[in-house]
Amino acid sequence: MMSTPAPEILENYNIHTLPRHIAIIMDGNGRWAKQKGLKRVFGHRAGVDSIRDVVTFCAEAGIQYLTLYAFSTENWARPKLEVSMLMKLLQEYLVKELPTFAKNNIQFNTIGITEQLPDKVQKLIRYNKEQTQSNTGLTLTLALNYSGRSELTEAMRSIAKQISNGQLKPEEITEEIISNNLFTHDMPDPDLLIRTSGEMRVSNYLLWQISYAEIWITPVLWPDIRRQHIIEALQDFQKRDRRFGKVN
Ligand code: IPE
Ligand code: IPE
Ligand code: MG
Repeated sequence: MMSTPAPEILENYNIHTLPRHIAIIMDGNGRWAKQKGLKRVFGHRAGVDSIRDVVTFCAEAGIQYLTLYAFSTENWARPKLEVSMLMKLLQEYLVKELPTFAKNNIQFNTIGITEQLPDKVQKLIRYNKEQTQSNTGLTLTLALNYSGRSELTEAMRSIAKQISNGQLKPEEITEEIISNNLFTHDMPDPDLLIRTSGEMRVSNYLLWQISYAEIWITPVLWPDIRRQHIIEALQDFQKRDRRFGKVN
C-alpha cells in the first residue's frame, strides 16, 4: 500500500520513473562542525535531523528502498571518543525514531557485521526490526560496520562452505548466486547513489551492487541536507539516459 505523495513531490518530478532504491553516502559531518567552530560530534548530532527529513521524504515519495551509509568498517580507526559518541548517537537514534518508522510505515533493516557492534545497539537493532517487520512502505537500511569488501569476503566464505559440503559445484556459481550471498540479498541494486560533501569516491560502499547505479554528488555537507536536495537528485536522475551498456 502506497500513501498519497505530498504536493511538492507531485509538482517536482515524474512519480512513475522514481528510482526503486536510493543509496546515500552521508558525508561531511565533521567539516560542518569545524566550519562552525564546533567539535566533530556536533556535526554527527546535526546529521540525525537530516536523516529524519530524508527518510520521511523517501517514505512519503513512495521510494521502496533507502540505504544509508552510517558507519564503515574503516570508521573504527577514528579516535576512540568519536567512535563511542557515534555508537551512543546510534543508540539514541534507534530509541527515538521508532515512532517515525511506525507513522510512516517504514521497515527497518541493517547491512554489515552487526555482531561486532555494542550489545545495547544490537538489542535495539533486533527490537526495531521486530517492531517494523510487517510495515509495507519504505525499507530503510542502515549500513553499520559495513564495507563492500568485507561483505564480498563474507559471501565468498559462505559460497566456499557450500562447495566444501557438496551443496554447490564451482561451475554453478553465477552472478545471481553471488548476489544471493550478500547482505543485500533481498533488495534490488541501487538505481541512484548519492554522495554529499563533494568527495568523488565510493569509499567501499556497495561495491558489487552499484555496478549500474547513477551517481549524484553534491558539495552540500550532510547536516545541511534536506528533502529539497533529494528532489534535486531525483530530477537529475530522471534526465539520465540509462543504457546499461546497450545502444538506444
Ligand atoms: C560522515 O561524516 C559520518 C560518518 C562517517 C560516520 P564524517 O565524519 O566523515 O565528516 P567529514 O568527512 O570528516 O567532514
Ligand atoms: C564514508 O565516509 C563512510 C560513511 C559515510 C559512514 P568516510 O568519511 O568514512 O569516507 P572517506 O574517508 O572520506 O573515504
Ligand atoms: Mg567523511
